Amino acid sequence: MKHIISADQFSKKDILEIINLSKKMDEILASKKVCKIAEGKILATFFYEPSTRTRLSFETAMNRLGGKVISTSNVNFSSVTKGETIEDSAKVLSGYADVIALRSPEIGYAERAAKVSTVPILNGGDGAGEHPTQSFLDLYTISKYFDLEQPIIISFIGDLKYGRTVHSLSKMLRHFPQIKINFIAPEEIQIPAKYFKEGDGKFHELTDEILATSDVIYDTRIQKERFEDMEVYEKNKSAFILTKKEVEKMKEEAILMHPLPRVDEISPEVDELPQAKYFEQARNGVPTRMALIAYVLGLNI
Ligand code: NCD
Repeated sequence: MKHIISADQFSKKDILEIINLSKKMDEILASKKVCKIAEGKILATFFYEPSTRTRLSFETAMNRLGGKVISTSNVNFSSVTKGETIEDSAKVLSGYADVIALRSPEIGYAERAAKVSTVPILNGGDGAGEHPTQSFLDLYTISKYFDLEQPIIISFIGDLKYGRTVHSLSKMLRHFPQIKINFIAPEEIQIPAKYFKEGDGKFHELTDEILATSDVIYDTRIQKERFEDMEVYEKNKSAFILTKKEVEKMKEEAILMHPLPRVDEISPEVDELPQAKYFEQARNGVPTRMALIAYVLGLNI
């Protein structure tokens, strides 16, 4: 049985296979053909934390594959408030559904669920840990603009300490050693040591040079809900605000990504610039999650 818990699980071959499958799913969506490969299958979405894109794109994906969805968008309406453990919830849900997408406020829930579940678990974000399904849609988006085998520069900015999308994506990018990675954040929210590798760039300021030489800028929200010390949050919350003036310093063919939601780190006026790809990135969640559901359920298109 295949679970998706961490970026560590995937070889380069797996990653390329899933990107390729996402492309095929996108072609099915574009053709408007009705797809029924998941007919008779049920996806359960069980989210302990707020979500717009991850949950709804998983649900859209399952609907587009011809399957059905059951959902607890707010676990406060589930037995979690009565003290049920993730293990018990996962055991019960695996009796109802064929695949479970899960989001939790703490690291390790997806792994704990996978230990007892009899159906695949998809980690839709576990606290400040990982968010591997997001990485596939991020990589799929990057692959639409750049050849992943080419020496491009990807610069992560924002909250790199708590930003789980950066954790998983940076791990997956290690399979493409010619890609150069920069981490740009104030020291208090810099990338944790385990994600940093020799040869990476580490900076505290977003300089004009970084803006002008990066092929991909991957911006992130300061994760207010994960700070232990609110003073540290207040100090860093406006560390980087990308306005039109900054984004215009990027190369014309470079892309600006963000997993969303944004708060104020990218001004709305940036949306109209050619580099702004974050809404397209969010849309890519649908074909990618169709691919991931097909992958774990062993469905053929
Ligand atoms: C991110 C998340 O939940 O980690 N959102 C997402 O899934 N697209 C980013 C965030 O919350 O800042």
